[in-house]
Amino acid sequence: MEIVKGEKLSKHYNIKLTTTKSNTLTAVSNINITINGNEIFGLVGESGSGKSTLGRLLLWLEKPSSGTVSFKGLDLTKAKKGEIKEARRKMQVVFQNPDSSLDPRMKIKKTLLEALECSHYTGDYTTRVKEVLEDVGLRPDVLDMYPHHLSGGMKQRIAVARAILAEPEFIVLDEPTSALDVSVQAQILNLLEKLQGKLNLSYLFISHSLSIVSYISHRVGVMYLGKLVELGTSEEVFGRPLHPYSQLLISSVPSIYLTKRLNIPRHNGNHEHVYDVVKGCKFHPRCPYADELCRSEEPKLSSNCHMVACHYAIEIEKKVFEGGA
Ligand SMILES: Nc1ncnc2c1ncn2[C@@H]1O[C@H](COP(=O)(O)OP(=O)(O)O)[C@@H](O)[C@H]1O
Ligand code: SF4
Ligand SMILES: [Mg+2]
Repeated sequence: MEIVKGEKLSKHYNIKLTTTKSNTLTAVSNINITINGNEIFGLVGESGSGKSTLGRLLLWLEKPSSGTVSFKGLDLTKAKKGEIKEARRKMQVVFQNPDSSLDPRMKIKKTLLEALECSHYTGDYTTRVKEVLEDVGLRPDVLDMYPHHLSGGMKQRIAVARAILAEPEFIVLDEPTSALDVSVQAQILNLLEKLQGKLNLSYLFISHSLSIVSYISHRVGVMYLGKLVELGTSEEVFGRPLHPYSQLLISSVPSIYLTKRLNIPRHNGNHEHVYDVVKGCKFHPRCPYADELCRSEEPKLSSNCHMVACHYAIEIEKKVFEGGA
């Protein structure tokens, strides 16, 4: 069953360069994405590719410049205020840095009780808070502490507990382990995986770490300059990346999926353009296969199961995986 759906989603920002000049930056461009019930959807891509913006659009924390977002079939662009409030409760977020999301002057108890007040829970609040603390692996004595008394990992567990107390169905996890020590990252990852199964949650798991995304995700989307350039199951995208950008990204780190070195040509093309100046395929200034068609016409995500936005995906797949001409 579909939980969250974004259709033709775009987000443009107007960036002031001087007092008289401004430029349009497209953070998210014409993206279609569906996240199903009980699914972990991983989103990868370089910094600035639009992952967090897409997350905020799906959570309705920011309105899209165009396109629609639906939560369990309810079109949020047309929904009433009360319906939006209820949908937003069921969609929670955990950010990279718990310090920026936890109020330093508030005891943990107050933070968690406030989250519970937004839910429809009618039982005993203290019992419920303790239950959820146990779920996230913390003892009740943290309730009387302030955030600065806790380690990074413990604070992130509190951020997860707060999200869970709102009784969500969908959580955006935006780089949830990136600010943590490596030793703690695995613990938080295991916790998130355990909670997803136990509470039947759907996640949008945003990370620039390919190994984490490949480990935790059922399906994966690859973003480049605001575009979704490839989408498929974790095995498809990491085991046989079809888009030249995904190939570059995945072959640059040791992968648990790739069993042999890919036959990828070197290319020293221009780095990305921040503003909307790239015509055709956004990746063409960096792509070793780019030709006139790529420079003039934007490829669309093809519509089979493992989707890729590239004019030459079939030919490139042969070259890269089979060493063909
Ligand atoms: N509120 C904003 N105002 C202007 N530009 C923004 C804003 N939010 C994001 N951007 C720009 O949009 C692009 C995508 O950003 P973001 O979604 O944060 O990427 P990612 O999460 O993949 O690093 C970046 O170029 C960023 O600078
Ligand atoms: S469409 Fe052309 S430029 Fe874009 S990724 Fe494919 S081959 Fe490269
Ligand atoms: Mg981000």
